[in-house]
Amino acid sequence: MIVKEIQTAAYLFASILFILSLGSLSSQESAKRGVFYGIVGMLIAILATVMGQGVQGHAYIISAIAVASVIGVLLARRVEMTSMPQLVAILHSFVGLAAVLVGYGSYLDPKTHLLESTEHSIHLVEVFIGVFIGAITFTGSIIAWGKLEGKVRSKPLLYPGRHLVNIVLLLVCIVLGVMFTGAEGTTGMVYLYIMTAIASFIGVMLVMAIGGADMPVVVSMLNSYSGWAASAAGFMLGNDLLIVTGALVGSSGAILSIIMCEAMNRSFFAVIFGGFGNAPASGGAAAAMEGEVTSVNHQEVAQLLKEAKSLVIVPGYGMAVAKAQYPIYDLVQTLRKAGKQVRFAIHPVAGRLPGHMNVLLAEANVPYDIVLEMDEINEDLPNTDVVMVIGANDVVNPGAQDDPSSPIYGMPVIEAWKAEKVIVMKRSMSVGYAGVENPLFYKSNADMLYGDAKDSVEKILGYLKA
Ligand code: TAP
Repeated sequence: MIVKEIQTAAYLFASILFILSLGSLSSQESAKRGVFYGIVGMLIAILATVMGQGVQGHAYIISAIAVASVIGVLLARRVEMTSMPQLVAILHSFVGLAAVLVGYGSYLDPKTHLLESTEHSIHLVEVFIGVFIGAITFTGSIIAWGKLEGKVRSKPLLYPGRHLVNIVLLLVCIVLGVMFTGAEGTTGMVYLYIMTAIASFIGVMLVMAIGGADMPVVVSMLNSYSGWAASAAGFMLGNDLLIVTGALVGSSGAILSIIMCEAMNRSFFAVIFGGFGNAPASGGAAAAMEGEVTSVNHQEVAQLLKEAKSLVIVPGYGMAVAKAQYPIYDLVQTLRKAGKQVRFAIHPVAGRLPGHMNVLLAEANVPYDIVLEMDEINEDLPNTDVVMVIGANDVVNPGAQDDPSSPIYGMPVIEAWKAEKVIVMKRSMSVGYAGVENPLFYKSNADMLYGDAKDSVEKILGYLKA
């Protein structure tokens, strides 16, 4: 057992570590340190809580932590980088569920009914709001997981008057909240259950209304919700650390959502209320593709690279699927040794999670200073000899700039087509995540190199070294 003062000091220290962790995660060089701060902060937080006064049943707590840790380690080891967003989404659902259960437990706890009247009323409001946010996070995250995993259709589910339905449901929840806070003893449980059912429905409908191309924002938005749910649980339990940590996650998730909306030129509110900026009725295939698709072979690409002085690589989701980052690193090294300028252009929503490409390239030891953001490199592309698009599709779609019927119209993209020559490496002509045809493939300065990205890069490398 540790005394209250030591626990408070430990909580303060853990909060500082969490803030340092978030700060460090903002750059690739310090990200590892950030993860370390987070781990240490969480260890301190768990120890200080479990060893706090009034905590009983240590054997159960330790067993639960042991089982959960084993599951966590196994999951983290097994999960493919490409399935990370699904894992993150399902983990958010646990936070939501935990907030709901903490709310129920806290309401039924006989001790809370001994509180002085004002304090008790405040506590009831905390419980109600906490369960409300938790239930939305829980079901919303499960639907997000389903959409990312391909188990729930990614097309937005829109029906007329849905905003009105949501507002009416919200009003019903407010009425239930008033009845709940006025209920005697634990008789308000029934209102809590009804509200949980309504909030769960709102969670499902909110995420169902959001279409494929906006899913990145949904994941970070649910991250934010899960933070607020944790914060609400902190209020219910009177745990300052949980309040601070939840608020950190909640606000950083919200900021990330706004940054991603800006990157995709979407209105934040339009995305979270669903159904905006999604595929038009035509499904996005309306604009007829002009031009002819031409393809090249590996040897021709190797020859092109030998002649080029400057090369920009645009990686996308397909690079992650193919795990092509390792041979790409070898290719980059070979070309740099031959005196060529090689750089990477990273779109903010390339891949399937924020920073996806940066993580993979860092994993393969690609130097940070040649990995540039879209805004940093776009203006150099007209002076670039070759752009190699490796497993990317939506993030290099010119339709986003010049086809108002495109579902991704308005999204800033990497202007690969402005380079002298573009090589697009993918397995077929199939569409990317947003389900839109890509006019880039039909441009006269673009050639397709069909095949698995890793396989193709290895073959090109073979010809270059030969
Ligand atoms: P996408 O537009 O999804 O295109 C990826 C392309 O990779 C596909 O067209 C596919 O074509 C190709 N591919 C798949 N496996 C491959 C392999 N083994 N070898 C070579 N190519 C392969 O990817 P993107 O350009 O990175 O754009 C990301 C999209 O995902 C955006 O629409 C974005 O909004 C969305 N999204 C992003 C996030 C975040 S936060 N980054 C989260 C969720 C969704 P083939 O099948 O023909 O090979």
